[in-house]
Amino acid sequence: MVQWLERQAAVRERRGQVRRPLPRAAGEKFIDLASNDYLGLSADPRVAGAAAEAAARWGAGATSSRLVAGTTQLHLDLEQELAALAGMDAALVFSSGYLANIGVLTALGGPGTLIVADEHCHASMIDGFRLSRSRTQSFTHNSVAEAGRLLAGRALPGHSEPRAIIAVESVYSVLGDEAPLQDLLALAEQHDAMLLIDEAHSLGVTGTGSFLGRGSVAGTALAGHPNVIVTATLSKALGSQGGAVLGSPLLREHLLNRARSFIFDTGLAPASAAAALTAARIIRDEPWRAASVRGNAGLLTAGLAPAVARFGAAPEHPAGAVHSIPMPSAESVQAVAEAARRAGVRVGCFRPPSVPDGISRLRLTARATLTPEEIEDSCAVLRGILEELP
Ligand SMILES: Cc1ncc(COP(=O)(O)O)c(C=O)c1O
Repeated sequence: MVQWLERQAAVRERRGQVRRPLPRAAGEKFIDLASNDYLGLSADPRVAGAAAEAAARWGAGATSSRLVAGTTQLHLDLEQELAALAGMDAALVFSSGYLANIGVLTALGGPGTLIVADEHCHASMIDGFRLSRSRTQSFTHNSVAEAGRLLAGRALPGHSEPRAIIAVESVYSVLGDEAPLQDLLALAEQHDAMLLIDEAHSLGVTGTGSFLGRGSVAGTALAGHPNVIVTATLSKALGSQGGAVLGSPLLREHLLNRARSFIFDTGLAPASAAAALTAARIIRDEPWRAASVRGNAGLLTAGLAPAVARFGAAPEHPAGAVHSIPMPSAESVQAVAEAARRAGVRVGCFRPPSVPDGISRLRLTARATLTPEEIEDSCAVLRGILEELP
């Protein structure tokens, strides 16, 4: 086993796939184009203050599973607030978005459930498919027609699957593009399937008109639809930690009784619940933050367009905060990220196996609280580095 570990480490090194956590010092100054703190709420004094107050009042941990003594009024208030924010009828909060996806998929999946999933779905969903032991088929990214053909396969001889789930992300985590949600809903209705939408990268960021910042479901025909289930993380736009599944009260009750990652897991820490609750309220009250993400995404895209053109297609204007730039190799993306870090700019460096299409990428996040000067400076730094790349 030890020799096997050594061989694995050598292979990673050779392929340029070694990952290392880069600790940041408290108060360290850098331009953050890497984190998922899309709205700048993680360090907002109201959010951090709510966490501190809740820890002092309720304790540092939830002390047990939500079903034993781990539910506080904060958890219930947070569930109501999240459901209202995302336009769904009920919510159940988990300890992370990862566990929310695992929980809903294992509680609804199993023999008798066909899962039809976009090939770009996040690892937490993929692990949920596997753990659920459902027959799972993936379709070409955003191909509704192919998803339809796979769902129709349920009726073929040899398959007896009375239930089906279509699994997608509203805004994809690595490429930053959107799913065709309305078409997928029509497909779900046609095939009596559930449409599971992971809103990890859209809640707090997308939405239009009076629903700005409330995600890709609220204010649309998807909101509160019986065939729609939403999963969310509290760790990105909400600046906290944790996750949730949103849907009907009946679904919530089913998960509470059947989702093993809910039942056999200590409840979300009260501090995280309080922080997320405060953040959800801020998102509703301060739509300027989502608007600022959109504006910054435009500035970032325009500022980098000439330098990234030679690396292939980048989305014209990201659907959310994620601006994804394909790079020629794992080594080159690593070199760019390292040079940017030395120049005081942090960017996401995504390489296989964390990229759904095998293409290494710079992943930049157009966060709400970046100033125009910070965007200008970071674009200048990145242009300089990219132009020198062989
Ligand atoms: C699409 C998607 N779903 C789920 C998760 C997991 O959420 P969490 O970090 O809360 O576990 C992530 C990222 O972390 C994600 O990008």
